[in-house]
Amino acid sequence: MVVRLPSSSEFSLEEEMRKAVESVFEAVRRHHEFYRFALPMIASENVTSLSVRKLLASDFSHRYAEGDVGKRFYQGCEFIDEVESLALELAKRLFGAEHVNVKPTSGVNANIAAIFALTNVGDRIMALSVPDGGHISHSKFSAPSIRGLKVDYLPFNAEEMNIDVERMRQEIEEKKPRMIILGASLFLFPHPVREAVEAISEADANASVLYDGSHVLGLIAGKQFQDPLREGADVLVSSTHKTFPGPQGAILLWNNDELSERLENAVFPGTVSNHHLHHVAGLAVALAEMLAFGEAYASQTVKNAKALARKLHEEGFDVLCKHKGFTASHQVAVDVSSLGGGSKIASLLESAHIIVNKNMLPWDKSPENPSGIRIGVQELTRIGMKEREMAEIAVFMRRVAIDCEPPENVKRDVIEFRRDFQNVHFSFDDGDAYAFFDELKG
Ligand SMILES: Cc1ncc(COP(=O)(O)O)c(C=O)c1O
Repeated sequence: MVVRLPSSSEFSLEEEMRKAVESVFEAVRRHHEFYRFALPMIASENVTSLSVRKLLASDFSHRYAEGDVGKRFYQGCEFIDEVESLALELAKRLFGAEHVNVKPTSGVNANIAAIFALTNVGDRIMALSVPDGGHISHSKFSAPSIRGLKVDYLPFNAEEMNIDVERMRQEIEEKKPRMIILGASLFLFPHPVREAVEAISEADANASVLYDGSHVLGLIAGKQFQDPLREGADVLVSSTHKTFPGPQGAILLWNNDELSERLENAVFPGTVSNHHLHHVAGLAVALAEMLAFGEAYASQTVKNAKALARKLHEEGFDVLCKHKGFTASHQVAVDVSSLGGGSKIASLLESAHIIVNKNMLPWDKSPENPSGIRIGVQELTRIGMKEREMAEIAVFMRRVAIDCEPPENVKRDVIEFRRDFQNVHFSFDDGDAYAFFDELKG
């Protein structure tokens, strides 16, 4: 709904603007009310703990700290330095990495920086296409074009929902790319990192492997997915707010000292001026939470995804990759083309307070009404849901999408169902994270 400002002849400018401010608070309040009683299953989102939310509202959000810890271009950074150095240490420990950079403000920003650092203008790279699960920032529409790179798509086996290793080997041999980007947005199974590294070496291709772990960083941290740095990736680039339950932002992790100067410079001053210090503070806490509780959270997340996929299949949905146990990540992919397509089903589910996104599947040509929906269970896991709840959610989804029950009816049941799941877990202050905002408002 678009909110219109009252006409200025009726009110003074100050009154008008006061109403605008009220409208902003009111819309956010209603958004919170909606999300409190909905099932948020967008695979790229999560909720942060109460501690992280408090830090996001701290004075760190007002400050500048260009440069590195101990070597800033501005005064006033003593405590910012303490927090950033702690974030760096915690990240090294959690991911077993020698080097970390926590400055990029988003996953795309981090990808641009890493691509900038590890390629030269005119180089050829290989990455997944968007229908095969690749992110737009791996494609010629984004970072690679900014750098003037030629992009070839990695061969994909839609049956296995993974990269076709044999064809990848052949293409690396033929094309001798300078970079392979692994990792994806639709990401059900670990990618062949070791195989890519071997193929690069056999082809004498002198290519770097960039692993974009944006979707699975929380699972990597919790040791429930592949470990790309141990498998030979040169750099792990990731958002910090999908399965990893931190503030929106990104991180770069790597082990090879020789890459440090290029990667650090590509972030600052290359692609970030001032980084978002309140997000660094929140990230430090999320890293500590993941060191303490990450394994339990990640393991329950993968169990929940498998349980939801199995039950959706039993309820009559066409869930991808039954022969492989459906998924090994936080995601479930469902082909809903026979039910009217991804746009229709995602929108019907939204009316029942079940939030998923339409998603292209490998055989789709257009993003407008793709065949699929993508579901992520990481946020539901954070608020305490387990396999039993996944089974109930599959039934809600069937009632909307297959039985064609009016979404309003199902919505009432979803709201009731959600009442018992108001607190964020796997943190040091398990509690109602939405209540914090209401308190701030006074
Ligand atoms: C694989 C992948 N990389 C990068 C991004 C971009 O991250 P951000 O939204 O933080 O820029 C996404 C976003 O969903 C993604 O799926």
